[in-house]
Amino acid sequence: MQKGLFITFEGGDGSGKTTQINLLRDYIAGKGREVITVREPGGVPVSEKIREIILDRNNTEIHNITEMLLYAASRAQLVSQVILPALNDGKCVICDRFVDSSYVYQGFARELGIEVVKTVNDIATQKLVPDITFFIDLDPVIALKRRLDLSKPDRLEMEDIAFHRKVYQGYMKIAGMYPGRIKRINGSGSVEDTFSQVRKYIDELLCRYKN
Ligand code: TYD
Repeated sequence: MQKGLFITFEGGDGSGKTTQINLLRDYIAGKGREVITVREPGGVPVSEKIREIILDRNNTEIHNITEMLLYAASRAQLVSQVILPALNDGKCVICDRFVDSSYVYQGFARELGIEVVKTVNDIATQKLVPDITFFIDLDPVIALKRRLDLSKPDRLEMEDIAFHRKVYQGYMKIAGMYPGRIKRINGSGSVEDTFSQVRKYIDELLCRYKN
């Protein structure tokens, strides 16, 4: 039986997930709990190789279905090699993106359909579902600008702003579909403002959670 706590972060590119994940990792560790962080796509050597294929700016011919399957393949490896063993050991696992990203990017924005993505990902994840998911809600234009100020854009970041708006709509839709699990966090304020919202939910969860 799963004993650990599985926490995922979602949001458009540049929404500030990574900063929040690092803060949350330190916060949970400060409470004396074992915690690991992983990112998608990637997290283990096989999945990092798949990540290189997906995000390579030269791979412009990747078909939408190929892309969905690559994300799922990367996820299957990460779940079986790292996430499930850690949860079975009673650890907290914080994951930067999970199946919701595929629902939104492949199912909604690329229009493959959420049902198709769910069918494939139920196999990839062995039906593992996060205990809680934080959707960092930030206007896609501000998010993209924040991101581009930081680094060179990769293949997906070069998609036009219409795509990023669609991603945002997809997240709103998914948040509405899973209101118990997905918590909307206002990401437009300071790092501290955002984290205080995350911390509130985590404090509640940790109170209920017995290792
Ligand atoms: P990354 O550089 O890790 O972006 P971020 O820091 O915003 O997470 O690139 C991941 C990209 O892959 C991002 O544009 C979202 C996309 N993605 C999907 O389209 N489907 C998925 O299932 C996942 C996990 C990511």
